[in-house]
Amino acid sequence: MPLANGFLAPEQFDDEYFFELKPAFCENCLTFQIIEQPNPEKMFHDSYAFFSRTSKYMVKHFQDYAEWAMASYFESDRPFVVEIGSNDGVMLENFANKGIKHLGIEPSANVAKEAQKYGVNTIVEFFNAELANRIIAEHGQADAILAANVMCHIPNLHSIAEAVDKLLKLKGVLIFEDPYLGDMIEKTSYDQIYDEHVYIFSAHSVINIFKLYGLELIDVKPQITHGGSMRYVFARQGQRSVSVAVAKQLTYERNQGLHLAPTFEQFRKNCEQSRERLVDLLNKEKAVGHRVVGYAATSKSTTVLNYCAIGSELIEFISDTTPIKQGKYSPGAHIPVRPYAMFTNNYPDAALLFAWNHKKEIMEKETAFTQKGGQWLTYVDV
Ligand code: SAH
Ligand code: TMP
Repeated sequence: MPLANGFLAPEQFDDEYFFELKPAFCENCLTFQIIEQPNPEKMFHDSYAFFSRTSKYMVKHFQDYAEWAMASYFESDRPFVVEIGSNDGVMLENFANKGIKHLGIEPSANVAKEAQKYGVNTIVEFFNAELANRIIAEHGQADAILAANVMCHIPNLHSIAEAVDKLLKLKGVLIFEDPYLGDMIEKTSYDQIYDEHVYIFSAHSVINIFKLYGLELIDVKPQITHGGSMRYVFARQGQRSVSVAVAKQLTYERNQGLHLAPTFEQFRKNCEQSRERLVDLLNKEKAVGHRVVGYAATSKSTTVLNYCAIGSELIEFISDTTPIKQGKYSPGAHIPVRPYAMFTNNYPDAALLFAWNHKKEIMEKETAFTQKGGQWLTYVDV
């Protein structure tokens, strides 16, 4: 597999980086993860392609997340909140607007620069125990450490848990959300697996890592974002009451077999079937002479296109609204990525919905395509 966000120009084709995307499940700590992990510096740098604000629903989601965190957990008069992976400031802006002391930790310089426009303070570095010490020296301990779609990106979770243990006040909380293993297994949404997603967490697996650092899971909240996510709330052992939702989620996971290896054998078979169905569908479209375009050059599409060996013989181009991706080619499959106007100016017969996790937003926006008889092709039911 190539890097999921490694969109590239033709002169870079010969030097493209590939690694083995091989997931595994550990029967001891109940963690689902990829074995070979590309160096984070290859993925997160000054031309990182993912900007959180590209979805207006996500902007609203982060506003709600911030308001809920403030209402539920802020006890001090002058709270200090730290976000890991703050990207373009989409979450912290909500704290900055209220004059709340905040700090974003974001190693990708280009997205961090965007955050400045929203008055968000950012340190352009990777979060780890050494940085936690520097933050404490300068700002003191944090009331809340927040994260979204980043904890699962960090190979060395021990270093993060150690850093959180240092940085958090006695009554502080760590809140993070990531794509949820239960949803991936249920939907066969194997496209959640790519270089940046080192882990696909479950409540069982996050408990097992953070308990080693005296942190206790006190609440879980399922989210519809990113195709099914879970928000986890941790506090220092015994410092806050534990919601009944935690025990319920653990029971659900055991009922789904998320703690058992055969579940993942079945998942593999389901992935293979999903691949056969998609390739068959696209071949049929081609056989009747239809033009098929990919809708949104998502990170997830990199896994799908390369796992299914689909190239520009089946998909004419991929339409995407992110300027940094336009004019480049998709990782590995080398399908051209074109501006959104190329889609609207000359509708294809069918669009393959790579951004299936943003389906609601996209269906609302694309009524004209649908009304003109445009077909939506999908490989994950939502
Ligand atoms: N929180 C945002 C962005 C998620 S993308 C959202 O949910 O939309 C993941 C982000 O985490 C990227 O911007 C990446 O640069 C950043 N990141 C990756 N590793 C990190 C680390 N070790 N510490 C802090 N941020 C990291
Ligand atoms: P992601 O799935 O990796 O989060 O990336 C989402 C991509 O989808 C991002 O490149 C922007 C693109 N996109 C569109 O092109 N049109 C849309 O309407 C939406 C919601 C996203």
